[in-house]
Amino acid sequence: MKSSILASVATSAAGALAAGGAWQQCGGIGWNGDKTCISGYSCVYSNDWYSQCLPGAAAPTTLSTSTTSKVSTTSSTSTKSSAAPTATPTTTPAGKFKWFGANEAGAEFGNDVFPGTWGKHFTFPDNAAVQTLIGQGYNIFRVAFSMERATPNTLTGALDTAYIKNLTDSINYITNAGAYAILDPHNFGRFYGNVITDTSAFQTWWNTIAKQFASNSKVIFDTNNEYHDMDQNLVLNLNQAAINGIRAAGATSQYIFVEGNSWSGAWTWNTTNTNLAALSDPQNKIVYEMHQYLDSDGSGTSTACVSTTIGVERVVGATAWLRANGKQGIIGEFAGGANSACQTAVKGLLDHLKTNSDVWTGALWWAAGPWWGDYIYGFEPPSGTGYTYYNSLLKTYTP
Ligand SMILES: *[C@@H]1O[C@H](CO)[C@@H](O)[C@H](O)[C@H]1NC(C)=O
Ligand SMILES: *[C@@H]1O[C@H](CO)[C@@H](O)[C@H](O)[C@H]1NC(C)=O
Repeated sequence: MKSSILASVATSAAGALAAGGAWQQCGGIGWNGDKTCISGYSCVYSNDWYSQCLPGAAAPTTLSTSTTSKVSTTSSTSTKSSAAPTATPTTTPAGKFKWFGANEAGAEFGNDVFPGTWGKHFTFPDNAAVQTLIGQGYNIFRVAFSMERATPNTLTGALDTAYIKNLTDSINYITNAGAYAILDPHNFGRFYGNVITDTSAFQTWWNTIAKQFASNSKVIFDTNNEYHDMDQNLVLNLNQAAINGIRAAGATSQYIFVEGNSWSGAWTWNTTNTNLAALSDPQNKIVYEMHQYLDSDGSGTSTACVSTTIGVERVVGATAWLRANGKQGIIGEFAGGANSACQTAVKGLLDHLKTNSDVWTGALWWAAGPWWGDYIYGFEPPSGTGYTYYNSLLKTYTP
């Protein structure tokens, strides 16, 4: 996802979260809010943690706790839902993801104003929305933030304790709820707009950050969002420096997600990022994070998908690369417009990943977050465009 989109959405969409009963949570363990729904909607049990206002009459509430019942619940609710895709998933391919979830955008917004003002230029994930998504079964959240706000002076300088405290609160909320939280410095391999070339300083930066989270085993470190237009050897060296800095901080139990050049695209991985096979980790917990959009230029800026089969076509080469190199991967960003051609393409992509779950650990939708308003891929419950259209499909892939 290109940064210019984030900046423009941030200013226009602030505070646009709609109220209303449709799609809202109406029950579940720990839920203290309204248990009734507006006219035309019924409170439907989804699991012990989550009931939701869905269009029409109530679905059966007697459910076992097996994963098959989760899938059948999804099918029954999606057929009642006017906003959900009509093609209800009927078959689930072999394999099982370790992780399936969503990006959480907001703390990196306003990246043309540093440090910027909380509540105006940037914000943090909405805990209630995160809880709603966890209630749907999602178990991983990629929390974007800005390196310039974390260490405002230099890469080797001191932390901004107020920003780090807010970030830590968001991370802890997610991990205390049992999900994984990815720390995503959303910086494109740059600091204040300049390509990071000092690998030693980058190692120190990661060492400083990782110390803050060393004891939380459900944190995942993502070295940087979408390196692009950089020397390929530098991308290798920055990733290795991050790994070294993280492990030296005593953060030895966590996974580390590495990213590649060319916006970490899966579709160009086998021609661009092959040198990254050389990365090494003493804990052997590297996961290769790739991104994949389905519009014509792969930028994730259009509601149109190239074809109904473009999802799988764009990742098969990466699947082969992971397997040939004995690596694990994850699609850290993907999305499609709210239309049936994209829905088929998204399903094809996810079915392929799941069938190949020996190398693909999971995927994360781009993106949830409190300030998306009516953004084309917005996954913020209850009313995000992507959430209302895709949740009934996506939740069938949760572990
Ligand atoms: C942190 O969050 C609080 C609200 O919880 C807000 O008042 C404060 O300005 C935020 N600070 C930063 C630097 O994000
Ligand atoms: C590289 O990946 C692309 C995209 O998945 C695929 O179309 C192509 O066949 C792959 N090339 C090779 C040589 O594997």
